[in-house]
Amino acid sequence: MENTEHRLGAEHLAGCLALSQSANWNQNEADWRLMLSLGHGWGISLADGTLAASTLVLPYGGRFAWVSMVLVLPEQRRQGYASSLLRVAIADLQSKKLLPLLDATPAGREVYRHEGFQDRWAFSRLASKGVSPSPAGGGVRPLEEDDWRWILELDRAAFGASRERLLRALAKRIPAAALVSEEKKGFVLGREGREARQVGPVVASDEQTAMALLSHALSAIEPPVYVDVAGHAPALREWLEGCGFWFQRPFTRMVRGDEPAPGEERLVYCVAGPELG
Ligand SMILES: CC(C)(COP(=O)(O)OP(=O)(O)OC[C@H]1O[C@@H](n2cnc3c(N)ncnc32)[C@H](O)[C@@H]1OP(=O)(O)O)[C@@H](O)C(=O)NCCC(=O)NCCS
Repeated sequence: MENTEHRLGAEHLAGCLALSQSANWNQNEADWRLMLSLGHGWGISLADGTLAASTLVLPYGGRFAWVSMVLVLPEQRRQGYASSLLRVAIADLQSKKLLPLLDATPAGREVYRHEGFQDRWAFSRLASKGVSPSPAGGGVRPLEEDDWRWILELDRAAFGASRERLLRALAKRIPAAALVSEEKKGFVLGREGREARQVGPVVASDEQTAMALLSHALSAIEPPVYVDVAGHAPALREWLEGCGFWFQRPFTRMVRGDEPAPGEERLVYCVAGPELG
């Protein structure tokens, strides 16, 4: 039997987890289940049934879709698997008139550039295993049901499309880290992961609000923790480094073609995660 290219389903969850673990990524089973429920994906399986490669697409609103979880087992790389699944994903999105977008690792960026993706903006993953910072600044309280209306409006402006299902699902993962600014100027969510908890997204109208939200969320959860900080917020990054966070890896937001990245970059202080946008 030869390698097969196929759709990903719940029966591939164990293989999906093994793939993300092989790259030392943070997704757990809940993340894979959430992404497969928000979108769909494809895999390449070897003759013995081992899942060797994956690619997902997560449609957001009617305009664009996130290309996510482009992974190939270490021993199966440089055989064109990522490029092949990426082309399947691009064709699928083109048939639905959805613009492909993604957040790339340095290795992924090389693959995407061949397939017509262009750099837009950068962000950095910071990690901490140490003591959580103390809450800095007031005006932060737990997210309540009534907040969703303005949260979704603010997030739509920041991200460029509605991601209501994603945000509502993330808010349930670590309720203590689901916080808002009393003045309706921003929100933060957090979730557990395979290696660490991730705090994000942090969407806010200004850096002071973002810092207050982040400090309260971080003080509410146990380390280790990851935060993906936008390049336009150097003061936020400096503050995190002062709290013991260190730089782990860079990411590049990329769009296929010449269009600008949707949304308002300046409102996004921390992304939800490179796999989610
Ligand atoms: C990035 C990744 C998905 C690439 O998968 P792959 O199947 O090896 O990629 P392909 O074989 O389709 O590569 C196509 C081309 O992209 C470029 N490329 C791929 N990996 C590269 C790397 N690590 N460094 C530089 N260029 C690379 C090369 O030009 C390659 O063509 P070549 O092999 O003929 O030189 C794989 O290395 C991986 O899983 N890495 C860890 C997870 C990750 O970073 N995923 C990307 C998420 S954004």
